[in-house]
Amino acid sequence: MSGKGGSGKTTISGTLARLIGRSGKRVLAVDADSNPNLALTLGLSTGSYDLINPLPHGLMEHRRVNGEVQVSLSRPVEELTQDYAVDCPDNVSLLVLGPPGGAGTG
Ligand SMILES: Nc1ncnc2c1ncn2[C@@H]1O[C@H](COP(=O)(O)OP(=O)(O)O)[C@@H](O)[C@H]1O
Ligand SMILES: [Mg+2]
Repeated sequence: MSGKGGSGKTTISGTLARLIGRSGKRVLAVDADSNPNLALTLGLSTGSYDLINPLPHGLMEHRRVNGEVQVSLSRPVEELTQDYAVDCPDNVSLLVLGPPGGAGTG
């Protein structure tokens, strides 16, 4: 949508997630911001922030197949949501990626 900070990306994403959740669908919201704050827009109470356990590093597997790099998850999505997703109001669950472990080579 926009890389510009403070332009409403999180507000719009969180509001859409809640509206879709209220319509009866189960929503999985993923906060991939290195400074995550989607929980606030999703209506998670500040007292529940301690429940957020960011996804661990090293979940992505890179394999080279016929000269191409294939990227896949090392664990099934269902398992990750069970272990790491936090229930929010309006039928929404939240997964937080957390900050990068460190800088790599450019
Ligand atoms: N339509 C709007 N009108 C007024 N304030 C808004 C609107 N959308 C977002 N904001 C406020 O602007 C700030 C930045 O919004 P946010 O969604 O966090 O931006 P981003 O994710 O793009 O950095 C927040 O304080 C939010 O409450
Ligand atoms: Mg944001």
